[in-house]
Amino acid sequence: MLKKGADIERATGKLGVLIPGMGAVATTFVAGTLAVQKGQGKPIGSLTQMGTIRLGKRTDKRVPSIKEFVPLYDLHDLVFGGWDIFNDDMYAAAVNAGVLEKPLLDAVKSELQEIKPMSAVFDQYYVKRLNGSHVKKASSKMDLAELLRQDIQSFRSDHDLSRAVMVWCGSTEVFIEPNPVHDNLQAFEAGLKNNDPAISPSMIYAYAALSEKVPFANGAPNLTVDIPAMVELSQQNNVPISGKDFKTGQTLMKTILAPGFKSRLLGVSGWFSTNILGNRDGEVLDDPESFKSKEVSKLGALEYILQPQLYPDLYKDFYHKVRINYYPPRGDNKEGWDNIDIVGWLGYPMQVKVDFLCRDSILAAPLVLDLALFMDLAARAGMHGIQEWLSFYFKSPMVAEGLYPEHDLFIQLKKLKNTLRHLMGENLITHLGLEYYE
Ligand SMILES: NC(=O)c1ccc[n+]([C@@H]2O[C@H](COP(=O)([O-])OP(=O)(O)OC[C@H]3O[C@@H](n4cnc5c(N)ncnc54)[C@H](O)[C@@H]3O)[C@@H](O)[C@H]2O)c1
Repeated sequence: MLKKGADIERATGKLGVLIPGMGAVATTFVAGTLAVQKGQGKPIGSLTQMGTIRLGKRTDKRVPSIKEFVPLYDLHDLVFGGWDIFNDDMYAAAVNAGVLEKPLLDAVKSELQEIKPMSAVFDQYYVKRLNGSHVKKASSKMDLAELLRQDIQSFRSDHDLSRAVMVWCGSTEVFIEPNPVHDNLQAFEAGLKNNDPAISPSMIYAYAALSEKVPFANGAPNLTVDIPAMVELSQQNNVPISGKDFKTGQTLMKTILAPGFKSRLLGVSGWFSTNILGNRDGEVLDDPESFKSKEVSKLGALEYILQPQLYPDLYKDFYHKVRINYYPPRGDNKEGWDNIDIVGWLGYPMQVKVDFLCRDSILAAPLVLDLALFMDLAARAGMHGIQEWLSFYFKSPMVAEGLYPEHDLFIQLKKLKNTLRHLMGENLITHLGLEYYE
C-alpha cells in the first residue's frame, strides 16, 4: 500500500548500497560520494543532490531542493559494499579504472581500501571477455543464490544497517531471449535448481536481493529483472525493481534531441551513431553477444519517441544504426558521433552532427546515487514492482506489460517530479497555467 507524506517510513540509521560489479562506474560513484562527503567535489549530475522542485503556483515561489522535500538518506549515512570477480579493493579498482585522478582518490584512500569485494557469482558463458578467480562455487544456481543471500545478511548485520538497496553495475551479459523459465516464479525457482542456462548471474543476484526484500535497480542492458518471474517476486515481497541500462552518453543525447525534432514536426530520415571507447566495458561489448544486449537496449528509444506509426510522413522507414568500437587509447573517455539526417518544409534535407566527447563513468555515477536513494524511498513509501517513474535514468525503461515505455527525457522528468509531489501530498503540475490569466 502506498504511504504518503508523514506516513512514509523515516530514513533513519544507515542505508547499505550493494553493488554487483565494482568496476569503473561503481568506483567512480563510491569514490565520488566519499569525496563529496568530505567537501572535495560537487555531486554534479545528481537530481537528488542538486535538483529543485517547484510546488504550487509559479507565483507561490516555493521551490525547495528535492532532498529537503522528500525524506532521503543523507550521503553520510550510506555504507557501500558489493561483489566482483576480481579481488581488488575499491581503491585498487578505482586506480585501475583510471577515471578519477589520483589526488582525489588518495583523499578517500583509506575508506576505499576498506571496501573489499565479496566473491562473485559468475560464469564466463555470460560475459565472454572476462575471466576472474574471485568466484563462488556451488552445485546449483539456487545454492549460489543462497550464498548471495547470506552475503546480504552478513553485510547488513556487520554494518548495523537499517536498510539496503542493490544497483547492478556489473558487466553486460550476453543477449538472452525471454524464455518459459522466466514466465513465473515457480518456473524460475525450478530453473535455479536445475541450472537452467537462461538464468544468468545477474538474475541470481536479483533473485537473492528481492528474496531479502532489497530493492534492485539494473544499470546494464541485461534482461535481469525485466522478466515476469522477477516482477512476481518483487510484488510478492513488496520490493521495488527498476531498469534497464543507465541512460548516459549517446542515448541521453538522443532522448534530448529527438523530442525536440518531433515537437517541431521535423522529419528524420536517418540517424547513424558510432562510438569509440577503451574501458573494460568497451572490451566486454566487443564481444558480439554482449553487444547484442546493448544494441537492443539502445535502438528502442528513437522508435518510441518518434512514433512513425502516428507520423508516417515524418518518420516512416527512418534508418537507425548504432555501432560501438573498442578503442583502448581512449579508456573511459568515450567519443560518440551522431549523424542525423533531418527533413524540413517541403521535404528539404538538412543534417545535424553531434560529437560528444564524454566520460562514461562521470555521467553514470550520479545515476547510481540517485537510483540508490530513490529506490530506497520507493521501498519506504510501500511502492513495489516496476518503478516506471525512474525511467528518467534508463535507456530501456521497464514498464507494465502492454504499455510502451516513455523515452522522452522531459516527459520522464515530469513523471518523476510529479511522483514526488504525489508522494508528498502536493498538487501535480500540469503546466496548464490558465489561472494566471483569469
Ligand atoms: N558508464 C556508462 O555510461 C554506462 C551506461 C550504461 C550502462 N553501463 C553499464 O554499466 C555496467 C558497468 O560499466 P563499467 O564501465 O563500470 O564496466 P566495468 O567493466 O569497469 O565494470 C564492471 C565490473 O563488473 C564485474 N563483473 C562482471 N560480471 C560480474 C558478476 N557476475 N558479479 C560481480 N561482478 C561482475 C567486472 O569484473 C567489472 O569489474 C556495464 O554493464 C555497462 O554496460 C554503463
